[in-house]
Amino acid sequence: MYFGADYYPEHWPRERWEQDARLMAEANLNVVRMAEFAWSKLEPEEGTYDFSWLDEAIAVLAEQGIKTVLGTPTATPPKWLMDKCPDIYMKDRFGRVRGFGSRRHYCYNNPNYHRYTKGIVAAMAEHYKDHPHVVGWQIDNEFGCQDTGQCYCEVCRGEFVRWLQGKYGSLEALNKAWGTVFWSQIYTEWDQIILPTYTVCEDSDPRFHGHNPGLLLDFFRFSSDSIVGYQKLQVDEIRGVANQPITHNLMGHFPEIDYFKLGQDLDFVSWDNYPAMPFHKSSYQSVAMAHDLMRGIKNQNFWVMEEQSGPCGWSVLGDTPAPGQIRLWTYQAVAHGADAIVYFRWRACSFGAEEYWYGILDHDGVPRRRYREIQQTGQELAQAAQVLEGAKVLADVAIVKSYDNLWSHRFQPHNAKFDYAALLYSYYNTFMANNINTDVVSIDADLGKYKLVVMPAFNLMREDIRIKLEKYVAAGGNLVLTYRSGTRDWNNSMTTETLPGPFGHLAGVEVEEFDSLNHGRTVPVTGVMGEGKAAVWCDLLNPQGAQVLATYAGQFNQGQAAITVNDFGHGKVYYVGCDLDDDSLTALMREIAKAATVQPVLPDPQIGVEVVKKEKGGKEFLVLLNHNSNPVTVPVPRGYTEVLSGEQVEDVCQLEPFGVAILT
Ligand code: GAL
Repeated sequence: MYFGADYYPEHWPRERWEQDARLMAEANLNVVRMAEFAWSKLEPEEGTYDFSWLDEAIAVLAEQGIKTVLGTPTATPPKWLMDKCPDIYMKDRFGRVRGFGSRRHYCYNNPNYHRYTKGIVAAMAEHYKDHPHVVGWQIDNEFGCQDTGQCYCEVCRGEFVRWLQGKYGSLEALNKAWGTVFWSQIYTEWDQIILPTYTVCEDSDPRFHGHNPGLLLDFFRFSSDSIVGYQKLQVDEIRGVANQPITHNLMGHFPEIDYFKLGQDLDFVSWDNYPAMPFHKSSYQSVAMAHDLMRGIKNQNFWVMEEQSGPCGWSVLGDTPAPGQIRLWTYQAVAHGADAIVYFRWRACSFGAEEYWYGILDHDGVPRRRYREIQQTGQELAQAAQVLEGAKVLADVAIVKSYDNLWSHRFQPHNAKFDYAALLYSYYNTFMANNINTDVVSIDADLGKYKLVVMPAFNLMREDIRIKLEKYVAAGGNLVLTYRSGTRDWNNSMTTETLPGPFGHLAGVEVEEFDSLNHGRTVPVTGVMGEGKAAVWCDLLNPQGAQVLATYAGQFNQGQAAITVNDFGHGKVYYVGCDLDDDSLTALMREIAKAATVQPVLPDPQIGVEVVKKEKGGKEFLVLLNHNSNPVTVPVPRGYTEVLSGEQVEDVCQLEPFGVAILT
């Protein structure tokens, strides 16, 4: 199993490299990622390449048995290039140039940038194609990071027009799809088409700005496709000469890029996991969901290319990982399908924008507590690799995530408190709270293998999706839909069908009316899940064959159906017409899972304890993770052995604070 660190030899004196390599080997590290920001060192002037220092670093590491993943350095175009071709700079929606000084200051569509990208990538690929110690490639670094998901320059406008021509074929079709008759926006020449830049109307979300929703959604799709295309350009360049596998380091829940599309051109997915950032501390459930999404992109195991290994921040610092937490985060990643862990970063840098980003070592380079924890973790993982590496997560439930839907909801969230990603997360959370493993997948996934599919607020609909879902349910599947399902067509226009639009047949309900809840207003909901409360949205349902599972108990909707279930073929379709507080949503999903014969991994879920069921070579096993800072006792069936200690587990498994158990 690969276990390593992100290493920047160019930040340290040459005399230190041997010591670093030795310390890494002593910490059981066997891989590094290097060079992803080193363009100005690799090509100090146009066409003059210098790989000597990198060759030497790779060799020093190889001496200690450490392999290298090479990053292409295109996240940081050097100053000589930007001075020569200033048109490469990205522009924001106010038309301002996003200039030199940090990173990612380039437009994904710029032809000059494409040319220079191909130059450096081809030179690297040629130089390292047969290198015995280079085991993989990372393209660029964190596409879209630092708000670089969209560029509003003239080149992008031209490319957007070409993209639209490819999609719609005629202006007539485009005008119809976008409904440009509204507010006199009918386009009569392709070149009239705008990007959604600064305009007159303001809204709570600055990205909306009163623009046409069809144009907005297409612009976000185009921007995401531009990144996918820019990545492809590099992938092709490398594949033309080299055979090592290719990845990119994604960012978990990051919303600007359709990760399902981005993953298609990669051999494997990797991602960057920082649970304790200064301005945002992730819950363990949120990290778990991000891992599951990363696994769902290619329906295959993945790497963590940057795993937090110290306190971190740019101007201020987040919490220092408590003793045991780095180990716990590592096991959480592995439990959810990581086949390699690479810690960011080997050593905190004493200069540059990330002086405060601590890694395995502090600025002084002295191994301390975090180093020893990682050393121990590496040793354990090597010992347990036979069981863990390549093992699959077993999940009977899938949550469908759609970036098209995410963007549509983001421009117009229906209610100020509505957030598509948060809704998905609230459903994900109910399964964790019920000890049920979940996959997070795209609508293109093979749904047939799941007993239960949850598609929260899937508002954009298409005919082929309707057919796919009807087949899935008719064959015995169970589907959960929610409020705001089927409200729009794929062009982001509202449907004129009675809601839930194309889902009506499946769900056996009509939405008679809805109530968007504002100013702290809540509505009691009562039914199979007990007493609950809606605080965002209520669909008032008219069953058309469906059975009522819960009703509202508010003033003007008293007794009206809120949650229903419909028999469809051999399966069932649930329509959850409102949001619910966490406890009642958890209770509802427990009932629905039970009806779908989905078994919890272990009975009696405990707060802060995660259980993941896995399989390798036909043998099932469990990983237990204690995210609490106190010890816990988890009841388990008899007959398990804990892999790390080799001990028999009788009836209960004791977990230390932040402790882990692997039970076979
Ligand atoms: C990641 C990025 C790294 C480094 C780290 C700390 O987002 O990929 O290059 O910047 O965060 O900010």
